[in-house]
Amino acid sequence: MSINSITTSLSPIHPLKGEFDVEKAEASSSTAIDTENVLVKGKLMEEFLSAVSSVAIHASNRLGIIEKLKENPTSIEMLSSELNLSAKHLSRTLAVLGKLKLVEVKGEQYELTELGSRLDFYSKGEREAIYHGALWIELCTASDVLTGEHPLIEKVAALLHDGRIGHEEKQLYDLATNYLWSRIIYFAVELNLADRIASGTRSTDSLANSLHLDEGALRILLELLQEKGIIYEEGSMWNLTERGQELRISKPGSLAHHIIFDDTKRWECLGLIDESIRCGAIPFEEKYGELFEYLKENPSESKKFDLAMDTITTLESAELLKSGVFDGASEIVEIGGGRGLFLSSIMEKYPDMKGVLFDLPSVANHENVLLELSEENFRDRVSIVGGSFFEFVPKSCGMYCMKRVLHDWDDDHVVSIFKQIEKNMLPGAKIAIIEPLLSEGDERITPELIDFYMMPLLEGRERSMSEMERLLNAAGFELTGKQIVGSFLSILVAEKK
Ligand SMILES: C[S@@+](CC[C@H](N)C(=O)[O-])C[C@H]1O[C@@H](n2cnc3c(N)ncnc32)[C@H](O)[C@@H]1O
Repeated sequence: MSINSITTSLSPIHPLKGEFDVEKAEASSSTAIDTENVLVKGKLMEEFLSAVSSVAIHASNRLGIIEKLKENPTSIEMLSSELNLSAKHLSRTLAVLGKLKLVEVKGEQYELTELGSRLDFYSKGEREAIYHGALWIELCTASDVLTGEHPLIEKVAALLHDGRIGHEEKQLYDLATNYLWSRIIYFAVELNLADRIASGTRSTDSLANSLHLDEGALRILLELLQEKGIIYEEGSMWNLTERGQELRISKPGSLAHHIIFDDTKRWECLGLIDESIRCGAIPFEEKYGELFEYLKENPSESKKFDLAMDTITTLESAELLKSGVFDGASEIVEIGGGRGLFLSSIMEKYPDMKGVLFDLPSVANHENVLLELSEENFRDRVSIVGGSFFEFVPKSCGMYCMKRVLHDWDDDHVVSIFKQIEKNMLPGAKIAIIEPLLSEGDERITPELIDFYMMPLLEGRERSMSEMERLLNAAGFELTGKQIVGSFLSILVAEKK
């Protein structure tokens, strides 16, 4: 049975009810997962993530980083002591500017590139950055953006269009305003526009009526979505493009599930990034608590999180399986495997392999785990274990696989996880670490963007291969293999020394 055909007759796709709600997400969690459209989805995802470049640019302007670099090339230590910034977080910020080709490093010295030296192109520099910072916070919920005497969406459209007209620095202007496009995509999902259009509410006035929104303001949003290639108007009716299909919440595995997870709380915390760069503050933890504790306490948020992770898995599992890293393993123990979507695809590719799904008890439970849906296929060879990897991991002589798990934790926690594996692994076992490793000297920008995005959310970070190797060594492992997969993931394989 293929992943695409994992369905349950008990859970039909819910009829549309309104804005995103978890009931709908729950429904989609137990219907067929669409793993197709990887390219369309991947491109839209990149555009959505590009908001992070705007944030890095504006924060660097606000914190005086650009101005200082304009005076002289300087080292991280000097820059952080002169501007009173955390050296570690400054370096993560400069890494994004480096990938955007705004900054380059020569030896220890950072300097602006030709393009970067024009970063105060607004001529108002810092003031403009503060304006964007405030606008970022204002653009919190879709209904606020579309209501009021002068709906915010008018300002957004003017910035995207009028602001650009005659702008000599188009490339920089685009980088600085990318976040507005990202937010427009978010609004489309929050209002569930794609599902509404798909189910026949297709004119601007009928959409405005069903959402109780101002028609004029909604029209601006719809036109912006048309500009992004998400919908198109024919006569007076709106239609979804292929990209638009990816914004349907009722479509399991669609990008909508990842986008909706990037909700107001995370948006708000990214708006407070200056504090993270100044002193390493983690606004999400200050406001809501440690991420996984927060998810445990808030089951509906936890469901959103798991579905968002599934969306990412649909983007990357085919490439990962092609890598051959699991060839020859007798068993895969997926640590932090969420609902088991990735493990399902491994089990499907290797019919003789055994599998263990390990995650927190609140995640690896009967209602949540996708593998349950394919019981007749995997029942005899897959087991599901709930627990914390800081306390134990299942014993195995196979391969321990961790996809996007270690980047949630600081170095000490990562070493603790490795030590738990080291303690429980049987002779012959290996570890496969799948992460967006910081690219060393290549063009890939996504790991740096994800690293920056995570800064105000949790204590973890992306790492380079050598940083990961150091942590492996500290727990008694040696690195025995490395592969780059797709546009930003890497696989590291390690064995006991
Ligand atoms: C970023 S998600 C990655 C999920 C999945 N591997 C993927 O790539 O989509 C991190 C996973 O680690 C799990 N996790 C967090 N803390 C854990 C703990 N102490 N023990 C076991 N799993 C944990 C989370 O529940 C979550 O499923």
